[in-house]
Order: sequence, then C-alpha cells, then structure tokens
Amino acid sequence: MTDETPPLRIVSATGDDDDDSVRPRRLADYVGQENIKDQLSIAIAASRARGDALDHVLLHGPPGLGKTTLSRIIAAELGVQIKTTSGPAVEHQGALASLLTQLGTRDVVFVDEIHRLNRLVEESLYPAMEDYVLDIVSGRGAMSSVLRLPLKRFTLIGATTRAALLTAPLRDRFGLQFRLEFYDLESIRKLLVRAARVMKIAIEDLGASEIARRSRRTPRVALRLLRRVRDYAQVMADGVITLSVARDALDALGVDHVGLDDLDRQLLTLLLTRFKGGPAGLETLAATVGEESDTLQDVYEPYLIQQGFLQRTPRGRIATEMAAAHLGIPYPGAATGGVEPPAQPRLW
Ligand SMILES: Nc1ncnc2c1ncn2[C@@H]1O[C@H](COP(=O)(O)OP(=O)(O)OP(=O)(O)O)[C@@H](O)[C@H]1O
Ligand SMILES: [Mg+2]
Repeated sequence: MTDETPPLRIVSATGDDDDDSVRPRRLADYVGQENIKDQLSIAIAASRARGDALDHVLLHGPPGLGKTTLSRIIAAELGVQIKTTSGPAVEHQGALASLLTQLGTRDVVFVDEIHRLNRLVEESLYPAMEDYVLDIVSGRGAMSSVLRLPLKRFTLIGATTRAALLTAPLRDRFGLQFRLEFYDLESIRKLLVRAARVMKIAIEDLGASEIARRSRRTPRVALRLLRRVRDYAQVMADGVITLSVARDALDALGVDHVGLDDLDRQLLTLLLTRFKGGPAGLETLAATVGEESDTLQDVYEPYLIQQGFLQRTPRGRIATEMAAAHLGIPYPGAATGGVEPPAQPRLW
C-alpha cells in the first residue's frame, strides 16, 4: 500500500453518530418506503383489532435505510414494549430463553443482524416463533430431558443486510417480509428539512436538495452529511446552509455530485485501470483498497450497483461504461474488448 493519507469515508457500516432526537417515532413521521408503510399499517391495525400479536417481521436491505428505526416504530404503533438484541449477542439457548421469557403479551423482540444467530439458537427459535414455546434440553444422550416453556404471544422483528444468508426455515417463519429500498430524492429532502428543524439548523430548500442528491439515497448518510455541512456553514459562512454552502462543503468532503466518496472512486478507478474493467474478485478488490470485504459488499456495493456503476457477476465485479464516463477514464472494454459487455446500466 502507499503512505498516502487514508481516503475519507463518509459511508460507514455503523450507526455510531445517529442522533436519537431526529429518529422518527411514529409511522407518519417515517418518510418514504410508502409500500412498506401501507402494508404495515394494515397489518398493525388488524392485529390490534384482534388483540393478537403482529406476525413476525423480517426487514432487509442495505445499512442505514431505517430498519432499526422502523422496528421501534412498529412497537410504538402496536403500543407494546420492545426488547432489542442482535444475532451474535444471543450466544446460547439460555440467553434466548431469558430474552423471550421476559416478554409481555404482544411485545416485540428486535434481533438485529439476525443472519448471525448460531445454529442451535436459531433452531430453538423455530417453535418459539411458530407455537410460542421454547424447548430447553438439559443433559446429554439417554439422560437428557426436554423442558417445554410456554411463551406469551410475541412478535419477532429480524433485521439483516444479508437476507441471502438466512436459512429457508427461518425466513419462512416471518409472515411479513419487507425489503427496504434506496429512497427517492424527495423523501431524503423531506427528511433533511425535518431533521434540520429538530436540530435547529438553518437550511434553504436548494441546500437541502443538494445534500439529498449526494446522500446515496440513504437516511443515515444524509443525516451525517447534514451535520458536516452545518459545521462548514458555521465556520466558513454565516451558518445558513444555502445551495452554494452545501456544494462547497460537500466538494471539500470529497463527496461528488452523485454521492460517491473517495473509496467509491478509488474502487472504480482500480477496477477500470489495474483490472481493465474487471471482472475482479471481491477479496482482491477489498485487499487492494484496504477495506473489509464484508464492508465493501454490504455498505459500498449496493449503491454503486443500484446507480449502474458496478455489476456483480459470477466471475467477479465489473465496472460499467457509466463508471468510466463518470470518472473521466477511457473505458477499457471499448479498446480491448476485455470486459464482458455489461447490460444496459440504469439511469438515475
Ligand atoms: N424513513 C425514515 N424517515 C426518517 N428518518 C429515517 C428514516 N429511516 C432512517 N432514518 C434515520 O436514519 C438513521 C439510520 O436509520 P436506522 O438506524 O434505522 O438504519 P438501519 O437500517 O437500522 O441501519 P443498519 O443496517 O446499519 O442497522 C436513523 O437515525 C433515523 O433517524
Ligand atoms: Mg440498525
């Protein structure tokens, strides 16, 4: 590797700086994802009317699109308590038992990163989800006995960035399954205006639109950029986020007009130059840019693919002609025929 300063990372896998004050609490304040909201409100109203627990819910999609937020909203709309944990934190059957036996009738348990549950815990979850019982095995072999613990009727909400890693038996036990999509610009703009109001940040409409345009259509990224632009506005301007303040601040952060940051550009540039457009394997690419392959796959790639800059093929990753045009690099495929012709990229 080189001794250059590490590239700026605006995108990140964690929600470390999420601000609780801007997190919407009710379905009506949750912008976008209209289709999911419509289906959820019907299911919630119906289960409330029956006085029964809501069906188990699976939320999947790239990080930062609002899965955790939505799970809390579901509990609030149901008027029940929510307990939160994550796949790796539920280490054994006992941990699962103590979690589930604490739940009151109709309560919600939220399991983040549900694809990372261990096998034994996952298998004990099946009867819990289906019949609201937990079978606790004690002892081994001929001496073992099974204790059947009844549970209150509850709702499991599972979230994952990797739905493909869920086993079929687990996935099938979720009655409601939603894939969160990247947001449209108008939804991100609304979310920014609302967050700015809560955080007492002065922002003009065109300033909000500019941040939205460069936000990777992702609420978490949009909010993070809003904070950085606010800092810039305070130090370099009179505190108001106008169009030109937003542009200058985001340019200074290295976030370009379609929302790509240094690492995105580095990745695409490498693919187009060193790997002649690709295909190149995920591990190779990750090592070359100095990032975890999981982070590349979960955090960076979904947006690049959705915007038509990158394609996943069985043989590896391919940079598209659109990526070359965006970066001002000649498309290697055009000269050498070395790149498999990518399908027509989607316009945004
Ligand atoms: N639809 C929305 N409307 C308003 N704000 C939202 C919406 N979705 C997400 N946010 C905001 O974006 C931030 C990130 O959302 P959240 O933490 O729910 O994402 P996530 O999908 O759980 O991400 P991860 O996969 O990394 O856990 C939150 O702070 C929340 O305030
Ligand atoms: Mg989350």
